Amino acid sequence: MNRAWWKECVVYQIYPRSFYDSNGDGIGDLRGILQKLDYLKELGIDVVWLCPVYKSPNDDNGYDISDYQNIMGEFGTLADWEDLLAEMHKRGIRLVMDLVVNHTSDEHPWFIESRKSKDNPYRDFYIWRPARDGQEPNNWRSFFSGSAWGYDEQTDEYYLHLFSKKQPDLNWENPRVREEIYTMMDWWLQKGIDGFRMDVINMISKVPGLPDAPEVTQDRYQFGGQYFINGPRLMEFLTEMKQKVLSRYDILTVGETPLVTTQDAIQIANEETGVLKMVFQFEHMDLSAEMGAEPGTSKSSRLLDLKAVMSRWQRDLDGHAWNSIYLGNHDQPRSVSQFGDDGPYRVESAKLLGTFTHMLQGTPYIYQGDEIGMTNVAFDSIEEYRDVATRNMYKEAVEKKGLDPADVLKIVHAKSRDNARTPMQWDSSEHAGFTNGAPWIRVNPNYEDINVANALADPDSIFYYYQKLIRLRREHPVIVYGSYNLLLADHEEIYAFTRTLADDRLLVILNFSRNSPEFNLPEGISFTSTEVLISNYEVNSEEDIHEITLRPFEARVYRLR
Ligand code: NOJ
Repeated sequence: MNRAWWKECVVYQIYPRSFYDSNGDGIGDLRGILQKLDYLKELGIDVVWLCPVYKSPNDDNGYDISDYQNIMGEFGTLADWEDLLAEMHKRGIRLVMDLVVNHTSDEHPWFIESRKSKDNPYRDFYIWRPARDGQEPNNWRSFFSGSAWGYDEQTDEYYLHLFSKKQPDLNWENPRVREEIYTMMDWWLQKGIDGFRMDVINMISKVPGLPDAPEVTQDRYQFGGQYFINGPRLMEFLTEMKQKVLSRYDILTVGETPLVTTQDAIQIANEETGVLKMVFQFEHMDLSAEMGAEPGTSKSSRLLDLKAVMSRWQRDLDGHAWNSIYLGNHDQPRSVSQFGDDGPYRVESAKLLGTFTHMLQGTPYIYQGDEIGMTNVAFDSIEEYRDVATRNMYKEAVEKKGLDPADVLKIVHAKSRDNARTPMQWDSSEHAGFTNGAPWIRVNPNYEDINVANALADPDSIFYYYQKLIRLRREHPVIVYGSYNLLLADHEEIYAFTRTLADDRLLVILNFSRNSPEFNLPEGISFTSTEVLISNYEVNSEEDIHEITLRPFEARVYRLR
């Protein structure tokens, strides 16, 4: 494996709307982030991935962009953004921007033109089709409920929107669209940014003819992913993007690529020939969705699946492509609620999950608030939720399918993207110190206990544990580059593995359960001495590691010599 800064770094993801509000309007902003850079520096992260801050009517909180080369008024100005970049670079923190080019906002000037007439020069920037038998052009379902087609009276045609109806899909078949996007990307790179996280980038190429999706449910609209995920021209478009833009810069690029396999990832992010540096895969997150779906499901029973998925990604990519490692982001429930325990073992399990993400081969991504163990929220009314996906899902379930609102609210509690979007909890003052005004979404009521001020005052906090994990990665190349080998594959509570780089060897032991299982070191692992690199409970460094009774959610990392 070749060495590279983007392999050695730790990325921190900021959801700007919910990070820190500097002007009392209830919405996080760029000046707010700027004021918290020293906090990030203290944590030790190297890179910030900033979710979209471009001009947007906010149907999907900035993932619906109306001007790619300007900043959303609520977040500040381009001058604020330039200050932020400069202050980040001054502190040695790099900035990765979100790139959302599968779709724009319907308020983008291109779409405003496009919808005007069938012969408008921008008509072909989007995907327009006439009705079929008086209905939508095909049966695809939008990710945000209902049909993926929006009807436009003006020209009596439909436009494709895989996401909300205010997010029309761009037509990547049109070379002018691609040129516009490359020029825009170059404009940001010239400003000195350090990379892009590319929103649903494996959906930009659609199968010609846009065939109907197979009917697998009773619904009128069906998931059409096989006709737009990893589509026929994806690699061609990305290769062109690489040639025209990416290859000229030393940057981190990470593609958000739902439903990719390890083979797809090896193609897209190949060490030698890849177009992107890494991708986000979702297999493990889809498991966690199942873990959270039925209250009472034993999370440990799913541990075997988690091991199988992660081990396959670790093994298949080793030496061929680079993993990105994450357990949460702005679209997912909070990791400690999904994979750990947000009750009595919140602190222990948050530390265990941090150990997990930092000790695998790949670049770790920390989602804001995970470093203090922020949890899911359960508002009592759908009115408190802001997310378009959540609200549409609720509406469809209650109004169209006639489900019991109380049951649907339970699903919202477990799954809503707003779980991750409640404001960052800075201290125990009103609104968690996030704003002096009225926050755009309510804060999680547990802020009086779970907040940054408390974390900074407690040497044993999750925050300082993360700080140490990040430091260790910097000190031990084996953590970054070592090969992964799974141990005890069939154990239902313990996830253990080794990492090896030349003579350097680590043993990682993670008890993913509330119980106290016995860890028995498998045969064939020889060593003369051990050193505890990090652990989330007190550990006697003399303890014989051949047999250990683990405590609930205990995590230990040993260096073997
Ligand atoms: C993935 C983003 O992460 C999500 O927040 C957004 O809603 C969709 N892509 C559409 O842009």
